[in-house]
Amino acid sequence: MSEPIRVLVTGAAGQIGYSLLYSLANGDVFGKDQAIILHLLDITPALGALGGVKFELEDCSLPLLRDVVCTDQETVAFKDIDVAVLVGAMPRREGMERKDLLAANVRIFKSQGAALDQYAKKTVKVLVVGNPANTNCLICSKNAPSIPSENFSCLTRLDHNRAKAQVALKVGVTTDKVRQVTIWGNHSSTQFPDVRHAKVTLNNGETKQAYDAIQDENWIKNSFIPVVQKRGAAIIAARKLSSAMSAAKAICDHLRDWWFGTPNDDWVSMGVVSDGSYGIEKGLVYSFPIKCQNRTWSIVQGLEINDWARDLMTKTAQELIQERDDAFDATK
Ligand SMILES: NC(=O)c1ccc[n+]([C@@H]2O[C@H](COP(=O)([O-])OP(=O)(O)OC[C@H]3O[C@@H](n4cnc5c(N)ncnc54)[C@H](O)[C@@H]3O)[C@@H](O)[C@H]2O)c1
Repeated sequence: MSEPIRVLVTGAAGQIGYSLLYSLANGDVFGKDQAIILHLLDITPALGALGGVKFELEDCSLPLLRDVVCTDQETVAFKDIDVAVLVGAMPRREGMERKDLLAANVRIFKSQGAALDQYAKKTVKVLVVGNPANTNCLICSKNAPSIPSENFSCLTRLDHNRAKAQVALKVGVTTDKVRQVTIWGNHSSTQFPDVRHAKVTLNNGETKQAYDAIQDENWIKNSFIPVVQKRGAAIIAARKLSSAMSAAKAICDHLRDWWFGTPNDDWVSMGVVSDGSYGIEKGLVYSFPIKCQNRTWSIVQGLEINDWARDLMTKTAQELIQERDDAFDATK
């Protein structure tokens, strides 16, 4: 049994936290021989509820779980952590302007970036989930200059999983038979869910390009893409709460693949700091097709981009540039 790793979850008293913590603590993500100490951060009024979550984690009787540190202090929460899952964010309230929401989140992620810089291990892996996830991740990374920008990522795996599931439903296969799907851009309704390079293994064992398996380009353009882009809103409309179970599952998928690697014949989607690949402005946190190995990631190169795809990729990049500029304005 190796030394315990310290994993921070912020917003841990919230609904994603509640769906996530069991999977982190029982070895589903970092392995069945990896002991873990959970650091749970939330705001002061949520500490009572957080205490209840700690009771429940104890009651799960999990041998890998060595300690649960509940706190409202960044100095405690970020101390010596190996992994940070930044879920807590300012929610949009009735009548709140987008600009005010962004400014509130910039404050949170600026402070948490500085706390990472000061207290976390320099090898810490950071996953930003709280929205606007890409821009929050950018702000966090900018405020943690001593930590390599490759250690920062934001969650677009939920969108990726949604895209796989929609294709699987359409073709009549299980989701594991759909590979090489990509989410490009922002975790927002401008994202581009792309199946132009995806492959599907049919129930007869034959593997085809997703376009040939689906045989319905109109469905791809006019149903599949908007359904994936607007799935988050559809869940809020139906549940009156945002996605939590599927978000927690996606967080686990993202972290597990970063830790243990992606399969040879597949890739995943992660929001990462752009190195200029595919003409996306350097420095933006943009979702790309990603392969992971040895706890590092790389952008899948060489995928053909036609004019239609280029337009969609540019549109979502432009939204991110606007968010970034607004966020930087808010820090002045
Ligand atoms: N990227 C994605 O795919 C994705 C998917 C689903 C939800 N989200 C986002 O995740 C976030 C959390 O969702 P939820 O459903 O768990 O919300 P929630 O409101 O149930 O929980 C959020 C928690 O964060 C806490 N919090 C607020 N500010 C904090 C701060 N500064 N420090 C620490 N904790 C703080 C709150 O007290 C609350 O307990 C939201 O921003 C949501 O939009 C992202």
